Amino acid sequence: MRAIRLKGSGGLERLTVVEMEEPGAPQEGEILVRLHASSLNYHDYLVALGTIPTADGLIPLSDGAGIVERIGEGVSEFAVGDHVVSCFFPEWQNGEATSSGFAKTPGDGVDGYARERVVRPANWFTRAPRNYSHTEAATLTTAGLTAWRALVNDGPLKAGETVLTLGTGGVSMFALQFAKMMGALTIVTSSSDEKLAHARALGADHTINYKQHPNWADQVLDRTGGRGVDHVIEVGGPDTLPQSISACRIGGHIALIGVLTGFSGPIPTVALLTRQVRLQGLTVGNRQQQIEMIRALDANDMTPVIDKTFPLQDLIEAFRYEASGAHFGKICIEV
Ligand SMILES: NC(=O)c1ccc[n+]([C@@H]2O[C@H](COP(=O)([O-])OP(=O)(O)OC[C@H]3O[C@@H](n4cnc5c(N)ncnc54)[C@H](OP(=O)(O)O)[C@@H]3O)[C@@H](O)[C@H]2O)c1
Repeated sequence: MRAIRLKGSGGLERLTVVEMEEPGAPQEGEILVRLHASSLNYHDYLVALGTIPTADGLIPLSDGAGIVERIGEGVSEFAVGDHVVSCFFPEWQNGEATSSGFAKTPGDGVDGYARERVVRPANWFTRAPRNYSHTEAATLTTAGLTAWRALVNDGPLKAGETVLTLGTGGVSMFALQFAKMMGALTIVTSSSDEKLAHARALGADHTINYKQHPNWADQVLDRTGGRGVDHVIEVGGPDTLPQSISACRIGGHIALIGVLTGFSGPIPTVALLTRQVRLQGLTVGNRQQQIEMIRALDANDMTPVIDKTFPLQDLIEAFRYEASGAHFGKICIEV
C-alpha cells in the first residue's frame, strides 16, 4: 500500500511517497481501517517542517477517517463497514488530562494516517457522524474536538453568551459553527474582508478586520456595549493574547489554543488579574468528548467548512497552501 514518510532532514521536501507492506490481520481488540481521508492542522505542518522533531521515517498526519474492513476478536463497538474517525490522544479515553506530551499522538509520537490502511486498537477510533463524508469526518480529530472542548467542556458555553474567534482557520471556524449551533452570539476577526463576508454567511454576528484595526479589542468592546465577550478562542498566542485579555468580559474565559504568532512572550498579568479572566490552556480533548461532539453533530445539521481537498500524493502542495494562509476553514487530504 501507499504511504508518506518523513525522511531525513530539510523541511517539506522530506515528505516521501513510499510503498509499504499491508498491515497484518487485526489481533484481539484491534480493527483494520481502510483510511479514506485526513485533514491538515498547524501541528502537522510543524511536524512536516521538522520544527517539532519526530522519529526519522515517521508517517505524518494526526487525523484519519475511513471504513472498518476487519475486526479482531473481542471487538464489540464496531462492525465491518462502519465509518470511523481517529482520536488525537488515543490513550486519553475520558476524565481529566494526565499528560502534556504527544508520545502516543498519531503523526507525532507514533505513525499517523498518511497511508491507506492501519491496524490499531479499536478504542483509538470513534464512530463518525452519520451523514458525514470521510473527508468531513477527518476534520473532527484535531480542529473539531479542540473547538468543541474549548467551548462546551471548558467554557462551558451557555445560549446567549458571546464568543470571539481569532482568524478563520480550522479551529476558529469550528468554534463559530458550534457557537451558533448552541445559540451564542459570535464575533470573528480576520485579515481578509472576503473571508469575513464568508464568516457572516456562516452566521457570524459581527466581523472585524484585524489588519485594518490593529487595536481590535476596542472594536470588540464597541460591539458588546463595553462589556467584552464571554469566551475567546485564542489561536494567535503571544502577539494576540494581550488584546484577547482586553476583549474579554470581567470574569470571562480565554481558551489558550494556538501558537500562530510564536511560542512565548510577555503577558499583561495585571490586566489578566484585575479583569479576573480565566485563562485555560488546552490540547485537543479525550475520546469521550469526541463521542459527545459526534452525538451533537448527529442531532444538528452542521457540516465542517472545507476550503480545498488534495490527493495524498500532493501533500507537500497541500502544506504549502496551508502555509500561504489563503484557506478558510479546513484543508483536507483524500487517501
Ligand atoms: N491546543 C490545541 O489543542 C490545538 C488544536 C488545534 C490547533 N491548535 C493551534 O491553533 C492554531 C490554529 O490552528 P488551525 O489548525 O486552526 O490553523 P489554520 O487553519 O492554519 O488557521 C490559520 C488562520 O489563523 C489566522 N491567523 C494567523 N495569524 C493571526 C493573527 N495574528 N491574529 C488572528 N488570526 C490569525 C489566519 O486567519 P485569517 O486568514 O482569517 O486572518 C489564518 O488563516 C495553531 O497555532 C495550532 O497549532 C491548537
